[in-house]
Amino acid sequence: MKKVVLITGATSGLGLNMAQKLSRNHYIVYASGRNISTHKDLPNLKFIYLDVTKEDVIKSAVDLIISEQGRIDMLINSAGIGIAAAIEEIDTQLVKEAFDINYMGIIRMVQYVIPPMRRAGGGKIINIGSIAGRVGLPFQGIYSSTKFAVEGLSEALRIELKPFGIHVVIIEPGNYRTNVSKNRTIIEPHSDSPYRKRLTNFFELLNKNITKGRKADYVGELILRIAHKKKPRFRYSTGRFYEIITPAIRFFMPSKLFHKILTYFYRI
Ligand SMILES: NC(=O)c1ccc[n+]([C@@H]2O[C@H](COP(=O)([O-])OP(=O)(O)OC[C@H]3O[C@@H](n4cnc5c(N)ncnc54)[C@H](OP(=O)(O)O)[C@@H]3O)[C@@H](O)[C@H]2O)c1
Repeated sequence: MKKVVLITGATSGLGLNMAQKLSRNHYIVYASGRNISTHKDLPNLKFIYLDVTKEDVIKSAVDLIISEQGRIDMLINSAGIGIAAAIEEIDTQLVKEAFDINYMGIIRMVQYVIPPMRRAGGGKIINIGSIAGRVGLPFQGIYSSTKFAVEGLSEALRIELKPFGIHVVIIEPGNYRTNVSKNRTIIEPHSDSPYRKRLTNFFELLNKNITKGRKADYVGELILRIAHKKKPRFRYSTGRFYEIITPAIRFFMPSKLFHKILTYFYRI
């Protein structure tokens, strides 16, 4: 029997790549997002409207899949937005919006997907975190915080869901070439901002890092391996070597030195 997968944030970037990979490999994929009009359904791949900030929409989407397929075997929470600014200068409404999508979005999704998974006797929930969820990155502090929150949520959820045969996995990507830069909320510093020079350097580097990032394909391949595994690991970091080792290094290195390296790396 083909396994049924629901992916959020699957109209672009990593989510879209995972949707294509899984559907080509005999999974039935419901690829969701808000902007689905430019996407065409393919065999095993159906695009459905889903905004992770809207509970009624999530409920309708989950009900539709259950009525068509009878179950959801795997949920991939990939919907997310980037946000870059000096914390001192950011409008707190934007902070709420980032948490509403990156963090609350996952809570809303799992609350609707866990009951049918539990009734079916198991499943997999895969959350897309970030290396930025292991290390607080300067001028991405809000984004980092949302991803730290996803780490805590995933760790707790993993233990809560174990008796039901539901595996929780977190994937922590480094820089990947997607639309994340285009979709990122960037708060430009005002002309008299004390952060102006450092932020200008930082924004330049941030977009360069994404342009030079790896292809989304690597994450697509990884999801395929995780989907095939009976008992996947809890945490998968994926990216360039220096990105993957960064969370480990911070625990062994004196924090003063680690912060110096971050400052140098981001030219701030
Ligand atoms: N690319 C990287 O370097 C990188 C690194 C680490 C982690 N990540 C994480 O990977 C995930 C995917 O990012 P990406 O790089 O693929 O970026 P992307 O190309 O910008 O894709 C973001 C996806 O999120 C969806 N989305 C945004 N707001 C939404 C909402 N309210 N409801 C439902 N869907 C929403 C977008 O779809 P619609 O606009 O159609 O709704 C889009 O499909 C994110 O969680 C991101 O934080 C990315």
